[in-house]
Amino acid sequence: MTRIPFQLTHAAARHRLAALVLLLASSVVSGRGTEPTRLITIATAHAALVLSNNAAGRILELHFGAVPADLSAFKKAPGREREFYPQYGDGFGENFVPDPALQVTHSDGNTSTDLLCRGQRTQPLDADISLTRLELKDPAYPFFVTLCFKTYFNEDVIEAWTEIRHEEAGEVVLHRYASCAPLLTAKAYWLTQFHGDYRHEATLAEEKLAPGTKVLDSRLGVRAARYCLPSCLISLDQPADEESGEMLGASLEWSGSFALAFELDPENRLRATCGINPLGEEYHLKPGVVFKTPAVLWSWSDHGKGQVSRNFHRWALRYGVRDGQKPRPVLCNNWEATDMDFDEHLIASLFDGAQEIGADTFLLDDGWFGNAHPRNHDNAGLGDWQVNTNKLPHGLTYLAGEARRRGVNFGIWLEPEMVNPASDLFTQHPDWAMHQPHRRADLSRNQLDLDLSRPAVREFAWGAVSNTLATPGVSYVKWDANRFVTQPGSTYLPASAQSDLLVDYNFALYDVMARMAERFPDVMAMACSGGGGRVDYGALKFFHSFWPSDNTDPRDRVKIQWGYSHFFPAASMAAHATKMGGRPMKFALDVAMSGAFGVDMDLRKLASDERSSLAAGIALYKNEVREVVEQGDLYRLESPYEKPRAALDFVSPDRARAVLFVYQLTNAPATPVKLCGLDPQRKYRVREVNLAGATGASPAASGKMIDGATLMCDGLQPSCHAEFDSAVFVLAGE
Ligand code: GLA
Repeated sequence: MTRIPFQLTHAAARHRLAALVLLLASSVVSGRGTEPTRLITIATAHAALVLSNNAAGRILELHFGAVPADLSAFKKAPGREREFYPQYGDGFGENFVPDPALQVTHSDGNTSTDLLCRGQRTQPLDADISLTRLELKDPAYPFFVTLCFKTYFNEDVIEAWTEIRHEEAGEVVLHRYASCAPLLTAKAYWLTQFHGDYRHEATLAEEKLAPGTKVLDSRLGVRAARYCLPSCLISLDQPADEESGEMLGASLEWSGSFALAFELDPENRLRATCGINPLGEEYHLKPGVVFKTPAVLWSWSDHGKGQVSRNFHRWALRYGVRDGQKPRPVLCNNWEATDMDFDEHLIASLFDGAQEIGADTFLLDDGWFGNAHPRNHDNAGLGDWQVNTNKLPHGLTYLAGEARRRGVNFGIWLEPEMVNPASDLFTQHPDWAMHQPHRRADLSRNQLDLDLSRPAVREFAWGAVSNTLATPGVSYVKWDANRFVTQPGSTYLPASAQSDLLVDYNFALYDVMARMAERFPDVMAMACSGGGGRVDYGALKFFHSFWPSDNTDPRDRVKIQWGYSHFFPAASMAAHATKMGGRPMKFALDVAMSGAFGVDMDLRKLASDERSSLAAGIALYKNEVREVVEQGDLYRLESPYEKPRAALDFVSPDRARAVLFVYQLTNAPATPVKLCGLDPQRKYRVREVNLAGATGASPAASGKMIDGATLMCDGLQPSCHAEFDSAVFVLAGE
């Protein structure tokens, strides 16, 4: 059964733990009639998923939410409509047939499946993590499904996935194969999604769910996001509130097409069926092969969206992103400054600028490769990963050395999954690109997706990554993917297995990414996909950060960063100060400082006051802001969706330090901002920082010692009132 937790920090959690121990101690209760029902509790510090393994061996869900205080609620065994992982085709429930989590055609053509539990095991993996595996089998077929749950006790995160295998005579076709499909129970449900298009990523929208099915999905094949994140919030009983209310956050670890389907049934239960989007992705599973679905991360809280976000952030910094504790370098990128129009001399002059402002790493973006088909525009060169000898005659190692001479590290841009028809690669291997027979190639940004299901193509992509990153001096990579799939056809896969393509592609992609992380542990990596097209915890395992959007106008970035912050920690969110939108430099700097800070400006053309503002901002970020923002707890204080300004604070884990950001988006009178997360007893020295370019006098509170309780009850009044005013306060506890 579930591991007994080892350490609790809060009295409330200790109280709940006592209840949990009771629960676990009496895990066999009476079921319907006289049949015993075994309870399976999958618990974290504050949340529990309680399942029952009934006398027939059916896994039914009893509860998903707070750790229950007693067992009495579970005396009555539920009917089959509460099956945890519903299967298609063999009867169902007393009054309802749910959307199946699993639909397969067995090798003999039978389209029904029945799953009964044959065993369960919970194993502590370390002091924080436990793994529970429920082994299910179809009584009529050698067809096996394992429901898997990893609990991250302290972070309050449950990771759920499914493993499917069989020993039937031939292939089994998986039509639907959800990662999990839990049932939620409340009076009413509100769904918060994060939709958007290119340059408008992660836009928050909340709606009350009506009976029937609401699906959040993507059909992009090789990137999950762009139009919708594979992450959402479900508020129970009332709309989502920032620091109160019961809710669940869900995030799918998958970079391909996904579907998060919410079915509100006639009995007011909500089933959340989450996983790979089955559209066009029926999978042909050979005997003996284990199909492991991507996992869904779940986090429950009765302290609102804020706590769910902090749970995800803590989990991510510890387990979900690479080197979560490592400070992110201050990047200097040349994309907005030069596009593909540069040469060695120009880049070296940008290194001078990077050195002057104190950047850690210079990231050379798109345009450095291709000779027969030089990459001077997006219509040529992708696939030809050799240095363009006209632009960079001395090569990358020389360039990296020039950066190093100025005390700056060197990083590089790659797009290893793609090919331009105008490339040596396409000339030699036209069949390596995805396409459909008898159809005209559908180009997007003048390029095609390579078919990574073909082993030779996967090795080619690995070669592009490994050769480039093995170049002496390369310490950072931005991995881009600038189109999605619209013609999912493979010349490698047989006609009978064409629908395996996108699943095979994404697993091959993860294989290449995993090899990158293993072979180049010291090369930091950013996931990018035409802006924020690949922002998911499937890819982020292999990356340190992601590129949220090609829209770097700080006015819009306030909202974009706000959206992503619901699931992804600031350390993972690249935030670059640029000139886009023509906003005040201070506003651009202050917005970028609440993420993993960077700069993308033409450093040759800066006025001297701009240069010194940048240098001062970077020094401030490194000395007083970075650690608290990247490792602290985020409190979203005022939403840019509801107020004329956005305000957020980050508090260090020991609550000794905090940073407050205020961004004025429309004119409004200055009012106090109430902070959150501080130690009420502690006195903090409050200091407004980054004052170069600030308008108005520094507020009276700046420089004073104020206790946490006052800062949280009465607030702090910034001088911001006009559009694009902004303020940053650093708080240092006694
Ligand atoms: C994408 C990225 C940009 C930039 C370009 C280069 O659009 O989002 O940041 O790297 O590609 O082509």
